[in-house]
Amino acid sequence: MKITYLGHSSLSIELSDKVIMVDPFISANELAKNIDINKLKADYVFLTHVHEDHIIDAEKIAQNNNAIIVSNYEIATYYSKKGFQTHGMNTGGSWQFDFGTVHVVKAIHSSSFPDGSYGGNPIGFVFESENKRIYVAGDTALTYDMKLIPEVIGAIDLAVLPIGDNYTMGINSAIKAADFVQCDQILGYHYDTFGFIKLDHTLAKTNFSKHKKKLILLEIGRSMDV
Ligand code: NI
Ligand code: MN
Repeated sequence: MKITYLGHSSLSIELSDKVIMVDPFISANELAKNIDINKLKADYVFLTHVHEDHIIDAEKIAQNNNAIIVSNYEIATYYSKKGFQTHGMNTGGSWQFDFGTVHVVKAIHSSSFPDGSYGGNPIGFVFESENKRIYVAGDTALTYDMKLIPEVIGAIDLAVLPIGDNYTMGINSAIKAADFVQCDQILGYHYDTFGFIKLDHTLAKTNFSKHKKKLILLEIGRSMDV
């Protein structure tokens, strides 16, 4: 699998000849101004929740690519009423897609649409393909339930964790989360985009390495293989 960081919590993941987009917030992110959303390919758009900083480009990218929007039941229903192809799931469920299996896991956060309407419960995803697993935590607090992920789903090869603090976990909680999911390779996200979540990159990397874990902070537009 190849994972590309598109700023904030936006990811593009290539797996088994398909491309999935996660939480696209690009056009309104000054730090991601070099990314042209009209050039992004996607077979699926996965949404962890519907706060504006996770969905602002979801409709555009889904429209451009005739992509299927996958999220919790409430969010899938919302987009399906607007004419999009959707696949609704919910916490605890797994589904075999044409690229691999997706497991929906718990996230401790909130979820409402920008107009205030109910967005169901926030979720995280485990993407399983090509004998690898990536855990994308979404906006979440640290929770003991993360321990169930490797136990029930299997070993995690890369954990994508929010580290910007204020709205989500910060550095110390993310280190503990990496422990809970038994993964030593962490891609940090949800940092630097706006004032409350500015991250000291050196401090973050040092703290992770003190716990024998590798924190990867990709430049926006850069990719890594898993
Ligand atoms: Ni949020
Ligand atoms: Mn957020």
